[in-house]
Amino acid sequence: MIIKGNFIWAPELDRLEVREHAWLVTEGERIVGLYGQLPPEYAGQPVEDWGEAILIPGFNDMHIHAPQFPNRGIGYDVRLLEWLETYTFPLESRYRDLDFARRVWKRFLNRLWAVGTLRFSAFATIHKQAAWVLMELTEQAGLRGLVGKVNMDRNAPDSLREETEQSLADTEELICRSRAELKHVGFILTPRFVPSTTERLMDGLGQLGEKYDLPVQSHLSENPSEVDWVRQLHPDIPTYTQVYDTYGLLRRDKTIMAHGIYLSPGEKDILREKGVLLAHCPFSNSNVSSGIMPLRRDLEEGLRCCVASDVAGGHTAAMNRSVAGAAALSKLNWLSHPEQRHLKVTEAFHLATRASGAFFGKVGCFEPGFDFDALVLTPDPMDSLLERTPVERLEQFLYDGDDRHIAARYCGGARVERPFAL
Ligand code: GUN
Ligand code: FE
Repeated sequence: MIIKGNFIWAPELDRLEVREHAWLVTEGERIVGLYGQLPPEYAGQPVEDWGEAILIPGFNDMHIHAPQFPNRGIGYDVRLLEWLETYTFPLESRYRDLDFARRVWKRFLNRLWAVGTLRFSAFATIHKQAAWVLMELTEQAGLRGLVGKVNMDRNAPDSLREETEQSLADTEELICRSRAELKHVGFILTPRFVPSTTERLMDGLGQLGEKYDLPVQSHLSENPSEVDWVRQLHPDIPTYTQVYDTYGLLRRDKTIMAHGIYLSPGEKDILREKGVLLAHCPFSNSNVSSGIMPLRRDLEEGLRCCVASDVAGGHTAAMNRSVAGAAALSKLNWLSHPEQRHLKVTEAFHLATRASGAFFGKVGCFEPGFDFDALVLTPDPMDSLLERTPVERLEQFLYDGDDRHIAARYCGGARVERPFAL
């Protein structure tokens, strides 16, 4: 495939690459090269010419709760633990009904497609069948990523509390089934968070992680009451991070932990050493009043970080808005901590494309050998009065763009159309 347009990507935190009027050549899923002049061997082949449009890498949302999608924007006047009890758990209980689940999943995947989230790591619910259907539909949609059946066997309402051995058996069944039947969607171990999982369950999940060499996702140090609760539940383990580590749930370079706002220096040492990816979710952190992650300081201290939506703690799946939200929150943090330089929006863009894409391998750059994932952004007629550079157009899309500005999506080298008719 040969694609012509204006390409922008962020291979590093503080580096943007721009190639105007360039030709990108792909073979199968991957990029072969990006050229200022089309090499003669490709002359005469069909070109998808996007004219003045800019092309950016697709977004990778590394922390999102698919079942909470219908709750976006609802109930944010309380904090995390009350919000979970009041709004989240009652909704998640409904996914025992497979028909309801299928209807939500289709809407969820259509929305991710619309806003340009081409890869993701999602929590489903405890329900094995519903999680399986989400995996199947994701594959059908032409999107890619990881899905986890949630594990919960303590501190949950009866309708969401599993029997420990059954939770492990259901998890192993999904691991094996997804390996046998799916190509582009994988299973990720998903203990909800420490307060929801007994030691026996965490230990069993850690063993499954070893046996099948699986990635892991969970929540870490999001809210002060939650951190206190973990301390009470595990008085013999010094920190929240060490609870996961004790049970083998910080798998090297294969672990995503959402939030990580209240971390001690010792915890950061462990997270850095294990290559844990911290998913910073700015809207969730402000919506349920969790706190402000010291993102710049964490990055300077060598932690791996990305930007994610955390729907429905976050109120929108649109990652461009979470990117702008990360920059905004970082500025508020800077006002009260002037020594912590704020993030630029283009740095947050790196965190939502390349830093997140690295979890999947060579994803998130327009460079040879990378998977070709892209969004085609067309100029808004409203903004046609002034000449704008490609970078200015990117900035404006990050702050005020929406799915109407995305003319096409490519994932893994193929154009992806709207997945489901509803
Ligand atoms: N901690 C445990 N469960 C959840 C959840 O569903 N959302 C968020 N934001 N935090 C959690
Ligand atoms: Fe979450």
